Amino acid sequence: MVNRPRSTSERKRTFRTSVLKTLGRQRWLDRPSYRLEHSLTFLFAACGRHRDRVANALHGTWLGHPLHPALAAVPTGAVATAMALDAVSVLSGHTAAMRDASRLALGVGILGGIGAAATGVTDWQHTHEESRRIGIIHGLLNVVATGLYAMSWWDRRRGRHFRGTVSSALGYGLTMSSDYLGASLVYGSGIGVDRAGPRLDVGWTPVLSVTALNGQPQRVEVDGIGVVLHRDGDHILAVGEYCPHLGAPMSDGWVDRGRVVCPWHGARFDCGSGDVLRGPATASLPSYATRVRDGMVEVCAR
Ligand code: FES
Repeated sequence: MVNRPRSTSERKRTFRTSVLKTLGRQRWLDRPSYRLEHSLTFLFAACGRHRDRVANALHGTWLGHPLHPALAAVPTGAVATAMALDAVSVLSGHTAAMRDASRLALGVGILGGIGAAATGVTDWQHTHEESRRIGIIHGLLNVVATGLYAMSWWDRRRGRHFRGTVSSALGYGLTMSSDYLGASLVYGSGIGVDRAGPRLDVGWTPVLSVTALNGQPQRVEVDGIGVVLHRDGDHILAVGEYCPHLGAPMSDGWVDRGRVVCPWHGARFDCGSGDVLRGPATASLPSYATRVRDGMVEVCAR
């Protein structure tokens, strides 16, 4: 067999994959990660009865989409604006006005970075293994970058513009590297992506004899799509097979006071609509109408 020489793009892809794999294998990060996770647990517990509200706000449950990616774009865009204004201030001669504007843009970037850190760490605490290790490196790079932006802002305010420009440029390099890791978590590991899978699109379809519902969740398949049936008192619920957060099998979940509970991270979904009532999930759980006809449970897409 003749070995075909690898193209430049293949070599780049292999290099990127091996960098991510190497980062994902850094098991020494697990101990500080668990410490950080425990600290976060205490922090959220300290919010008392507002705990779920605070966590939902940070996850983006209210938005139906993770909030972190939206906020993470703020420092990237704002600092790029600051650097462009720095360049214009040199070229145009309108030094004072441009420097004020670039400091303002940098300030927006710092605030965005703080928001991105709060939302990112809230999402990160529910990740595992390689994603968790890459996630903590992503977070550390952002913390250092935000620190450099803060130094830059202060230097600019004190009139040390050149020093401020250098530190914001260094920080931006870190932000770019961190953005790459963040994107690999989304596109490579599916963090923040709706993992519920395809949704059923059928009319009333018999799926199971009602006598087979013995109190345990039952998985059935309709058109190749998994559906989980739960009995809740007199009602029969039909929901998607996988949790939209990280794809936990909902056949291991349970129903608690009218809410379907995910077995992995405790997200809660409305029994009727599948809407998220408690994160970390942000997308709704597929939920189907049910009825009993001639001793058979039938499901139908809403
Ligand atoms: S898999 Fe995380 S809440 Fe369901």
